[in-house]
Amino acid sequence: MMTIEMRRRDAAEPAGEDASVPPRKGHASLRAGRGTPPHAGKDALPRTIGDFPLPDAVRREHDDAEWNAAVPAAGPAASSPPQKANHAQLLARAQPSAQEGPMSQAKISVSNFDFYYGTAKVLHGINLDIPDRKVTALIGPSGCGKSTFIRSINRMNDIIPDARASGTITIDGQDVYGGNADVVELRRRVGMVFQKSNPFPKSIYDNVAYGLRIGGMRNKRQLDEVIERSLTRAALWHEVKDRLHASALALSGGQQQRLCIARALAVDPEVVLMDEPASALDPIATSKIEELIYDLKENYTIVIVTHNMQQAARVSDRTAFFMLGRVIEYAETNEIFMNPKEKMTEDYVTGRFG
Ligand SMILES: Nc1ncnc2c1ncn2[C@@H]1O[C@H](COP(=O)(O)OP(=O)(O)OP(=O)(O)O)[C@@H](O)[C@H]1O
Ligand SMILES: [Mg+2]
Repeated sequence: MMTIEMRRRDAAEPAGEDASVPPRKGHASLRAGRGTPPHAGKDALPRTIGDFPLPDAVRREHDDAEWNAAVPAAGPAASSPPQKANHAQLLARAQPSAQEGPMSQAKISVSNFDFYYGTAKVLHGINLDIPDRKVTALIGPSGCGKSTFIRSINRMNDIIPDARASGTITIDGQDVYGGNADVVELRRRVGMVFQKSNPFPKSIYDNVAYGLRIGGMRNKRQLDEVIERSLTRAALWHEVKDRLHASALALSGGQQQRLCIARALAVDPEVVLMDEPASALDPIATSKIEELIYDLKENYTIVIVTHNMQQAARVSDRTAFFMLGRVIEYAETNEIFMNPKEKMTEDYVTGRFG
């Protein structure tokens, strides 16, 4: 069977066990510890997205000039807000602004993607280009198809009886639903973290080693290295390094979620899908996950579903607003929260419905 030719950043690496865990760009912030953001010394401007305070993680993404241009009160857009379509007009139109806004290189391209559970069509003509090494947030009311969509990216929906997809999703130009696609390899490249952390009833070490061993890695020294690197990337190493052989189930909920992230990272994915990864966590654990997401985008393409508007504003570069199985608006996160083109988006992000 022909496999999907996965573009790897380690193409020059020799084949063998190590090839499944190539070195990536350094995680300086993780290795050196947190709390020293690049702009820490800057005098911060008062910045908000709508009613949401904008934290350092988002602020440091924008230089002051960009930000000033984007603040509604400071720009001409504030005096002439864009005309907003009403809900009926919007649903009658096909994804009006799904392709607007600047886009860096697309890692994942979704084109005319439909999804059915039996005869129920739950995704309608989705078009999205998801940029490489950025965080893309999917927001929208319950039942609008966010989980169905995110699970479509690594074909997690394949196991659902009578489920059917049409249209295309490509990763680095390779059709993930193509006849020759290798689903096992796809899921290695595209890791997933779920709402409810799901560690195996094994040790911390064995959880992270799981996918590596399935992939054939047996050398203890190599395993040790990759496990330390994965736990470090998941910002968990320092909390567990002295009890790697204790049960994963003895970790706190937030630690378990970071362990699941470490497990996903261990097999060297390029994309990490996260479906409400922090919705069951307390604010401190949530902020750890958010910091982690922010740091991970240096090396990974992240797609995150969240019901938490502040979280979407804090962690993401681009946001897609889903409604009734359609993408209503997709743009830079600042645009979605500060200057949405569609009234329905504005109503949702300001909490008028959903
Ligand atoms: N396994 C399934 N079989 C049949 N219908 C399903 C299945 N999973 C989801 N659906 C339906 O598909 C639609 C989209 O569901 P989905 O779980 O993708 O929404 P969501 O946006 O993730 O919602 P939430 O925010 O509540 O998690 C809903 O109408 C749901 O009832
Ligand atoms: Mg869901």
